[in-house]
Amino acid sequence: MSIIKTEQLCYVYGENTPFRKEAVKNVSIEINSGETVGIIGHTGSGKSTLIQHFNGLLKPSSGRVLVGGEDINADKKSLKRARFTVGLVFQYPEYQLFEETVGKDIAFGPKNMGLDSAEIDRRVRHYAELVGLDAELLSRSPFELSGGQKRRAAIAGVMAMQPKALILDEPASGLDPQGRERIFEIIKRYREENDSAIVVVSHSMEDIARISDRILVMDRGEVFCFDTPPKVFSRSRELEAIGLSVPQVTRIFMRLREMGFDLPEDVYTVKYAAEVLKDKCNDRF
Ligand SMILES: Nc1ncnc2c1ncn2[C@@H]1O[C@H](COP(=O)(O)OP(=O)(O)OP(=O)(O)O)[C@@H](O)[C@H]1O
Ligand SMILES: [Mg+2]
Repeated sequence: MSIIKTEQLCYVYGENTPFRKEAVKNVSIEINSGETVGIIGHTGSGKSTLIQHFNGLLKPSSGRVLVGGEDINADKKSLKRARFTVGLVFQYPEYQLFEETVGKDIAFGPKNMGLDSAEIDRRVRHYAELVGLDAELLSRSPFELSGGQKRRAAIAGVMAMQPKALILDEPASGLDPQGRERIFEIIKRYREENDSAIVVVSHSMEDIARISDRILVMDRGEVFCFDTPPKVFSRSRELEAIGLSVPQVTRIFMRLREMGFDLPEDVYTVKYAAEVLKDKCNDRF
């Protein structure tokens, strides 16, 4: 069964004002437990607006959001359950650390869930370890941490609620390649431990291609396509037409095909590209 489902979801900012903006239009999608979904789209295409519906931070202008089959906006109890089932990590979450110690910050969510103190303590230690923060940092002020450490502490705080769906808005933005890699490793570990659904919004087609089981491409508030990476990247020409850069290796293969080489359309990782080229060479010699 899907963990998150939207039915004809629409969201309008500034209704009845001159600034009215239909940011999400008729989005009907299902996200399954255990899968990693990458969301990509031009700036302003509605990615952040859409994901804020998944745990009820925004209420649909029309349409419904179901979590575990339950309409999360049906009543207060449903909404509260959704807040614990779906964990949302905002863009630049490090700006939202506010407790006096890192440990208290990570404990904030689990505490709100009403867990006992032994369990809270266990989770704080476990998720600090998972994101690579030494136990000695737990008693420090968040302000003593580096930027990367702060980001990881904020992510640990959401993970400590053990959400069945973990949603992250541009989790690696502003980090160097090593920092980015680290964030994606952490997300992968969380998924492996919890069999949760993971939803990652990113501007980087390379990152999305690498981590996603399925990719949701948004275009001006609407779903452009929602499919497996090979299917999505076989439409590279159309993706470029809506202003998305496809992975570099996909672009190279597109050009080679235009030059007359007989190559598949769905090459989107360097690893697969190498395999294809090796096979081609073996065929020839
Ligand atoms: N608080 C707001 N008030 C009014 N309009 C908004 C608000 N937030 C977003 N919008 C508008 O809604 C549309 C969708 O914005 P959204 O932030 O969801 O896009 P996005 O795909 O996340 O973009 P980005 O890649 O830049 O993060 C845009 O046209 C944006 O200007
Ligand atoms: Mg956004």
